Amino acid sequence: MEADAIWTALAGAGVAARGRRIVSLFEADPDRFAGFSLRATGMLLDFSKTSIDAEALALLLRLAEATGVAAKRDAMLAGAAINATEGRAVLHTALRNRANTPVLVGGVDVMPEVNAVLARMEAFARGVRDGSIAGAGGPFTDVVNIGIGGSDLGPAMATQALAPYADGPRLHYVSNVDGAHVHDTLARLDPRTTLVVVASKTFTTIETMTNARTAQAWLRGALGQGADAHFAAVSTALDRTAAFGVDPERVFGFWDWVGGRYSVWSAVGLPLMLAIGPERFSQFLGGAHVMDRHFATAPLAENMPVLLGLVGVWHRNLMGYPSRAILPYDQRLGRLPAYLQQLDMESNGKGVTLDGSPVARASGPVVWGEPGTNGQHAFYQLIHQGTDVVPCEFLVAANGHEPELRHHHELLLANCLAQSEALMLGRDLAAAERTVKDPALAPHKVFKGDRPSTTLVYPRLDPATLGRIIALYEHRVFVEGAIWGINSFDQWGVELGKELATALLPLVQSGMGFEAKDGSTAGLLAAITELRR
Ligand code: F6P
Repeated sequence: MEADAIWTALAGAGVAARGRRIVSLFEADPDRFAGFSLRATGMLLDFSKTSIDAEALALLLRLAEATGVAAKRDAMLAGAAINATEGRAVLHTALRNRANTPVLVGGVDVMPEVNAVLARMEAFARGVRDGSIAGAGGPFTDVVNIGIGGSDLGPAMATQALAPYADGPRLHYVSNVDGAHVHDTLARLDPRTTLVVVASKTFTTIETMTNARTAQAWLRGALGQGADAHFAAVSTALDRTAAFGVDPERVFGFWDWVGGRYSVWSAVGLPLMLAIGPERFSQFLGGAHVMDRHFATAPLAENMPVLLGLVGVWHRNLMGYPSRAILPYDQRLGRLPAYLQQLDMESNGKGVTLDGSPVARASGPVVWGEPGTNGQHAFYQLIHQGTDVVPCEFLVAANGHEPELRHHHELLLANCLAQSEALMLGRDLAAAERTVKDPALAPHKVFKGDRPSTTLVYPRLDPATLGRIIALYEHRVFVEGAIWGINSFDQWGVELGKELATALLPLVQSGMGFEAKDGSTAGLLAAITELRR
């Protein structure tokens, strides 16, 4: 069957799904959990609490086949230039290719270069961690990573996630061009024992370069020429790092086939390596590699990223849900929703297909979230009783890192499971009436239920598991983008705002010349100028 015919059949399955409750699927099939969950790479993905039934799942799998997901995956892994609008290969998987099998780009194996940079990173990280690479005031106690987007979110998210494994210098992340960010970060640090890592794929990003120059002035003010020994850089633009004045020995390169939002596995992960050490960083890469092998080899029906992607397509295109919530019941995954926001929305927030024609269906959803249980006391009200349905993606570790606080973790687990249960089951009017004395209150206590969720369970949030989780989501985004026929690896949508900001800067600085602007922008400029006098 052609993809169009499968979409038509899926639309029918969607209509059928709207006419029944998720819970009825469990009544009809006592083994539903077994059929609609998957154990792979040491993790469990449960998608039984969605409205996907056997027929819909079969159709979704046929859609994946008809849209060439496997062939597109193989092309990506083989180094084909699948990022067509930028003429680039997409090979973040090579960065964690622990099997060290050759990966060819334009006929050249990239693995020797990947391994060489990794070895240099390891030597540098060991030196910083053991104090043999030190600053003017002795061993580095603090590291400030200056970067934004993919040059910030990955290492920042992972550093927080792997806090129990951190035994190196303290890590700080500065991203925002708002001077408050760099000011408040540097204010608490001693320049004599602070290392600054400037991370920028292009080394032109205005936020990063502005913050880097401010940090350079701060270090030079305190240390004079000695400041240079307090810098390292991560970039694909080695000419620009040299122009900035970073010693080439302290520059760690990567390649144009690594997208910014896929770069935590490259030298962009240096701050994480400084925090947890090269061995654990290697475990992090190893975990992602395990997921890569699974994605590359498992049949589509037993392939975790494929199934998670198909759940996403079902919710977005057949159920029409405009967003999805990422809800880690794992405090240390506090930055995961923000990380996945970039990964997902910058990848699949596209309006045209690879050939430039408008996408036929809705593409990437809005991705948002917060760790549970905090979210429960904030926005879960809307998730349970609001007028929009938000598919929820729960993540939870079977075990915490604090054996002495076992009861905390049991409460966390119970809350996570309770939420997906409540979302699915809800509470009808008759049950609500039994909970109140005043019947007028009953409608307020009704939960419609029938709200979908998935749950990812993993043993413990260790470096390898974090690697597997991130790689799972990367490949899920790939699967969805492949089905929609879009290029998940460019980001032209960020350009226009950058161009206009550059054009607006002189107007902000001079307080003049806004007449040619649209009425709102001119009015705002005038008001701001007035307030700045
Ligand atoms: O503006 C978007 C973006 O290009 C992201 O894709 C990227 O992760 C971020 O900016 C930072 O870019 P760079 O690493 O080149 O500074």
